Amino acid sequence: MAIRCPQPPTTMITLKVNGVQYEIPVEPRKLLSDFLREDLGLTGTHIGCEHGACGACTIIMDGRTVRSCLTFAVQAGGAEIITIEGLAKDESLNPVQEAFNEAHGLQCGFCTPGMVITSVELLNRNPNPTDEEIRVAISGNICRCTGYKGIVDAIKLAGEKLREQEG
Ligand code: FES
Ligand code: FES
Repeated sequence: MAIRCPQPPTTMITLKVNGVQYEIPVEPRKLLSDFLREDLGLTGTHIGCEHGACGACTIIMDGRTVRSCLTFAVQAGGAEIITIEGLAKDESLNPVQEAFNEAHGLQCGFCTPGMVITSVELLNRNPNPTDEEIRVAISGNICRCTGYKGIVDAIKLAGEKLREQEG
């Protein structure tokens, strides 16, 4: 006799991710980080510690950075989310991505999506941050390669690029 395995219940949510509107069923206990990676295929959001300590899973939700490993997908219902995949436009890197490339703001790259997303949010609210303000902003993002100097330089360069762009 076959054993019936019941499917877990799902809840329908609508949300916008990188400009694309979704209406999609999710398990109520599914983490937003797993939802982005497994259900939407957006694997640029990395999972490091899975308990809010490393910042690798950082995304922007309704304009503010959020740890997607500490958020249930259902909590994103009605929200607008930006992940690392949403930054480049028409094959052109976002100025923050360009700056990380030019100023050697990455080594192994595992922390980089979270770092870049945190930097985008910082520069949105403070286009000309001091070194100290940059270090405070990225204090929740751990780079295991310990290369913070290049990261701070990259964020300063990104600020310059964005200020130039805005004239
Ligand atoms: Fe979310 Fe580390 S994986 S903070
Ligand atoms: Fe390797 Fe940050 S570049 S963990």
